[in-house]
Amino acid sequence: MSIDSKNIESSLQETRKFAPPADFAANANISSEAQYQAMWQKAKDDPAGFWGELASENLRWSKRWDSVMDQSMPETRWFNGGKINACDNCVDRHAESWRRNKAAIIWEGEPGDTRVLTYQDLHRETSKFANVLKRLGVRSGDRVTLYMPLIPELAIAMLACARLGATHSIIFGGFSSDAVADRNNDAQAKVVVTADAGWRRGKEVLLKQAVDESLAKSPTVEKVVVVRRAGIPVHMATDRDYWWHDLMSDVSSDCECEPVDAEHPLFILYTSGSTGKPKGVLHTTGGYLLGTMMSSRWVFDLKEEDTYWCTADIGWITGHSYVVYGPLANGSTVVMYEGAPNWPHEGRFWEIIEKYRVSIFYTAPTAIRAFIKWGDHWPAKYDLSSLRLLGSVGEPINPEAWMWYHKVIGAERCPIVDTWWQTETGAIMVSPLPGITATKPGSCTQPLPGVVPDIVDQQGNSLPANQGGLLVMRQSWPSMLRTLYGDHDRFKETYFSTIPGCYFAGDGARRDEDGYIWVMGRVDDVLNVAGHRLSTMEVESALVAHPQVAEAAVVGFPHDIKGEGICCFVTTKSGEGNESLERDLIQHVRKHIGALATPDKIKFAAALPKTRSGKIMRRLLRDIAAGRESAGDTTTLEDYSVLAKLRENDEG
Ligand code: WT7
Repeated sequence: MSIDSKNIESSLQETRKFAPPADFAANANISSEAQYQAMWQKAKDDPAGFWGELASENLRWSKRWDSVMDQSMPETRWFNGGKINACDNCVDRHAESWRRNKAAIIWEGEPGDTRVLTYQDLHRETSKFANVLKRLGVRSGDRVTLYMPLIPELAIAMLACARLGATHSIIFGGFSSDAVADRNNDAQAKVVVTADAGWRRGKEVLLKQAVDESLAKSPTVEKVVVVRRAGIPVHMATDRDYWWHDLMSDVSSDCECEPVDAEHPLFILYTSGSTGKPKGVLHTTGGYLLGTMMSSRWVFDLKEEDTYWCTADIGWITGHSYVVYGPLANGSTVVMYEGAPNWPHEGRFWEIIEKYRVSIFYTAPTAIRAFIKWGDHWPAKYDLSSLRLLGSVGEPINPEAWMWYHKVIGAERCPIVDTWWQTETGAIMVSPLPGITATKPGSCTQPLPGVVPDIVDQQGNSLPANQGGLLVMRQSWPSMLRTLYGDHDRFKETYFSTIPGCYFAGDGARRDEDGYIWVMGRVDDVLNVAGHRLSTMEVESALVAHPQVAEAAVVGFPHDIKGEGICCFVTTKSGEGNESLERDLIQHVRKHIGALATPDKIKFAAALPKTRSGKIMRRLLRDIAAGRESAGDTTTLEDYSVLAKLRENDEG
């Protein structure tokens, strides 16, 4: 493990501070520092009291819990003995209230088609689709894969699963058929819900075709439901594949929510780790729902009248927690957009904000860097005055991008919440509270109530201000992952063995003199490409699976838009490489993992730099990929000439 010292220095230079605007502060859900301090202290000292109250006030339970929590990690439990249903809390109770005709989802497709679903509509559609799933044999506890475009049917399918107590496993549409097969098998999915295709930059993303390919390798799947989205011809297998609209046409809209245990699995979401196959992060029901609900209200300052837009795809955790469960639990109005930010033009996002009068906008640094590149004239064309709050997630936001967001999009009027969290944490952990936190560009600032972070050295000792170390959690929190699906040992090993007694999931950070947290990035072999996690190992395994490849090492390098690009060092069996093999390898990685893992650079090498014990020296490869001189120790290198050759190749 290494923590890049350059990172620490560069963030130290940032001294600008932005206080919350007075009018925002006056009306915020958390509106004074004293209120926050009291909440944070109570959550730390009396978590059962703190979360128990919130759970009774804010969620509808079918049966009250026996105990709020079992504080120990890793075997944490929240609201044990309680019975609840996530769909009931996100849909039914609003449909029963004055909110029944409030827009739950305002959706826009990439081609410009639009749909609005009220809470009442969502209630009817989720009930019907839950009945469809039942008819296809799905029961509480079964796993259902959702491999879909960002269309309302995806949210409906998730909530319908929750309604029945089935566990959904959403696979982002950018993953390949191989990735779908792996995940279907790992989760032993019974049903797959997909679409003929989705739209991305005017092209069809052929989802059904990928599902067909995956099914040859995923024997547990019995039935497939297909939404007609793009209207393209697809193969429909008899007694296996069904059209969504056919199934929905003659099904009852009566379907009670099935109360499940608070610890019942709500969903599995696969994410990359530093080794081996993707990890099936498992979240349960009660704690996850409470965590996403409260954090939405605290961090996004959600009000009844807000129009809230989180641009993430639902296929990632951000979409699960902050497109669907968190905001809908609050009865909010959520904007969903299917397509790319630059289709048909580079002002599409700003056009959507103007059109729907979006008040809260949550996106990723990689998108912000693309907006900067496309030019200020795009946002300038649209009226963005409805915005009152901006958010960022996925990777550390560089201060330049933060300042641009603040000035050009926020007109220096909107607080920015830089939210740090992970697939595993389920909900936002560290973030400014927009009514009270003076923000510093590049810092995610302070822990939310219930989050007890620390920055420690490799022995677990707390570090003083401005020293970089490992970011850990000392207390369990309601929306924490409970296990890795089917591999509880790996769960304990991955998150709880580095620093005994603490949760640690791979980030380095420091705390400044004001106690603000600055996340410095991953300290393991995980890449953060466009705000998404990819393991170097996975890309390496894909490369080595190619018949002409002998050995491969994959590292990240700084990339203007994506944050991190993927650079692959490859030695071939013949000892040679050429452009056509390069193209072939790029396609090969896309086929194995998906378009999101497309290598940016392939470098052929006669040999890779290794230590005498045979370990690839990734630090040196990272330097070469980034085009910088290697500082530091190279004395353990087995063969110095390898390094010189790699550099020569780089210049050529
Ligand atoms: C990793 C988690 C959970 C949101 C989407 C990504 C990095 C995320 C921030 C931030 C600095 C951040 C971390 C983290 N990260 N947000 N605001 N500042 N780094 O979810 O795929 O589970 O990745 O993203 O490295 O560990 P994920």
